Amino acid sequence: MGEKTAARVSINISRRAQSAIKGEKFLMSWNISRYIYDDYIIISIDLQNPQRNAVAEISKLGDSWFFNRLFVPPEHRRKGIANALMEELVKILDAKCITLRNEINPYGDMTYEQLLAFYKKFGFKKTEEGFVRYPKTKKQELNVK
Ligand SMILES: CC(C)(COP(=O)(O)OP(=O)(O)OC[C@H]1O[C@@H](n2cnc3c(N)ncnc32)[C@H](O)[C@@H]1OP(=O)(O)O)[C@@H](O)C(=O)NCCC(=O)NCCS
Repeated sequence: MGEKTAARVSINISRRAQSAIKGEKFLMSWNISRYIYDDYIIISIDLQNPQRNAVAEISKLGDSWFFNRLFVPPEHRRKGIANALMEELVKILDAKCITLRNEINPYGDMTYEQLLAFYKKFGFKKTEEGFVRYPKTKKQELNVK
């Protein structure tokens, strides 16, 4: 087993988010961190409480990559944070040419059907191999801004 390599990159993103309560649009700004290891990738959004960050985590088991966790703390849901995490994640999947397997196990606000539509938006498909996202591009240098 080779040594693990890690890269942490912080990106500040701003976007218009929709308030779940009033429906108004407002500008939000988050710091996204990417931790990239040989067999583990975490995208995290700093929400001022390290125990309660929003995260997308994937890991490699054997030759296959699996989605471990997509979680946004309840008090920060419906602000577009999961969308932001997934946008970062799919950039890395494409840049590193990773095929990612996923299982939908809802344990929060969204139902199975809602999560299915959500993941499909990011390229996941039901295939004979399960619910999978294949990379869109050939392997390339990871230079995600
Ligand atoms: C699933 C989860 C990560 C979504 O996080 P979020 O930050 O609230 O999601 P976003 O605000 O980015 O919304 C993503 C999309 O889902 C929709 N959505 C979010 N919550 C919803 C809800 N309660 N009902 C209906 N749609 C919802 C949004 O409208 C948005 O759709 P759009 O991109 O078409 O506009 C969050 O609810 C969570 O952590 N749940 C518990 C853990 C879980 O179930 N993880 C999935 C395991 S497979």
